[in-house]
Amino acid sequence: MSARVSLDGRVVVVTGAGNGIGRAHALALAERGALVVVNDLGGAVDGSGSSGAAERVVAEIHAAGGTAVASTDSVATADGGASLVRCAVDEFGRVDAVIHNAGILRDRTLAKMGDEDVTAVLDVHLTGAFNVLRPAWPHMVERGYGRIVLTSSASGLFGNFGQANYGAAKTGLIGLMNVLALEGARRGILVNAIAPTAATRMTDGLLGDLADRFDPRHVAAVATFLASEQCTLSRHILTVGGGRVGRIFLGVTPGWYGGPEPASPDDILEAIDDICSLDDFIVPDSGADEVALIQQALTEESE
Ligand code: NAI
Repeated sequence: MSARVSLDGRVVVVTGAGNGIGRAHALALAERGALVVVNDLGGAVDGSGSSGAAERVVAEIHAAGGTAVASTDSVATADGGASLVRCAVDEFGRVDAVIHNAGILRDRTLAKMGDEDVTAVLDVHLTGAFNVLRPAWPHMVERGYGRIVLTSSASGLFGNFGQANYGAAKTGLIGLMNVLALEGARRGILVNAIAPTAATRMTDGLLGDLADRFDPRHVAAVATFLASEQCTLSRHILTVGGGRVGRIFLGVTPGWYGGPEPASPDDILEAIDDICSLDDFIVPDSGADEVALIQQALTEESE
């Protein structure tokens, strides 16, 4: 019998699940047996206003025979995050997984970016992750089990013109993933990230003629796997869109060693091509792992 991903009876919180990718996550998780907390403030793409988006997705899940509850808390505040986690615990008794997917856009070049464009975007994407994960974490630790899926973006990992606020927030989530994966490792908590591409209101008009190939359900399949007990990965970034799934990773070049005396800027100028050469790059498992690689090379050099 082939392996099957099951979320049977698992309590999963999905932020920003009233539209687009988050809605697809919620429907896919419920189809696999999860008890889903469908969180959505219900605002516009820039975060303004509110609507009944979460309730509509809950109704869809109920109509399909699944189990879900709506939360209209904003992830942008600590109170909102605490209330969302309380909703999961009050309704279903625990939190097994969190998919932090809520997001807004305030695209501007740095020259035109206002204070509010910076804080609003950081508050939902990056601080929002802290707002939800800090109250959820003790519940996972207590049960020795947890799955966390963060939503990053190629816009930050690789760069995208006019998205300094968004790109910084999305790449900040990778720092959060790296650290939480280490802190969660001995407690059964696995932490991963996705970098999705999907046709949603957020990408309206951006994906050209092939937009309908970028069904959010491609992304939901990956998030559902990462949120499941069958996932044993941690500290991984999976890129998914249009039916392609790949891994994005952070690596370091083997580098150049200048000897015991500090190199001069002129030495660096001379060695810059060697320093940056991608040949034989390394993918460290942690910051400490990178330091250990340097220490190992220095030990070998002095032997
Ligand atoms: P969307 O706009 O359809 O969905 C985002 C949802 O988040 C909305 O329903 C919105 O009401 C909700 N939300 C916003 N602020 C909230 C808050 N403070 N509290 C609770 N909910 C809030 O956008 P889409 O495309 O589905 O995006 C989902 C995630 O995927 C976002 O984090 C986005 O940045 C990310 N992403 C999307 C890409 C794409 O190609 N669509 C590309 C890369 C990343």
